[in-house]
Amino acid sequence: MKDKLAFKARKEGYRARSAYKLIQINKKHDIIKENDKVLDIGCAPGSWMQVVLNLNASVLGIDISEIKPLKNAKFILGDILEDKILEKIKGKFDVIISDISPKITGIKEIDKFKSSKLIGRVFEMTILHLKKNGNLVCKIFQSEDSNKILRNMKKHFKLVKIFKPMASKKRSKEVYLIAKFYKG
Ligand SMILES: C[S@@+](CC[C@H](N)C(=O)[O-])C[C@H]1O[C@@H](n2cnc3c(N)ncnc32)[C@H](O)[C@@H]1O
Repeated sequence: MKDKLAFKARKEGYRARSAYKLIQINKKHDIIKENDKVLDIGCAPGSWMQVVLNLNASVLGIDISEIKPLKNAKFILGDILEDKILEKIKGKFDVIISDISPKITGIKEIDKFKSSKLIGRVFEMTILHLKKNGNLVCKIFQSEDSNKILRNMKKHFKLVKIFKPMASKKRSKEVYLIAKFYKG
């Protein structure tokens, strides 16, 4: 499965196989529409941005790693945990997508701590930058905290679900939080 998707991604011009995760999420949950303004948090190398552009929506990506420029897309290089980077993001978005994950150390407690810090930041950015009735897709890792996250998101969105796309490896704990119709 993994190799087949990596091969398909190369053939279809996507920068990473993770493109197929967003494609499936969007087909099933109808997150991004034509002409939407999308913020992609943790966007490198840029395959989700490519998917957004193919849907005729506009996209601003942000990542701590540089990306090869993409025609018609905007990019901010920086660490979302630094306040000065956040000041560079202006305005509101129809959709926020985040596939952000820390560099894995293999030490469970450290990885969990880093990941929940990043996810917390994505939620702060959502509150600042998502339009009323906007949608959020955010990668989270299944843990004893997942239910807490879900309960919290239900306060802010009319519809909240967890989805595991086929392109996610079965053994990986990653799942995607699908949150629609932000209450503002
Ligand atoms: C799984 S990759 C995203 C792949 C992307 N969705 C795609 O399809 O091309 C996760 C990204 O999160 C980024 N990241 C991790 N920590 C970050 C931070 N503190 N600030 C910004 N980006 C970060 C990594 O650099 C990495 O590019």
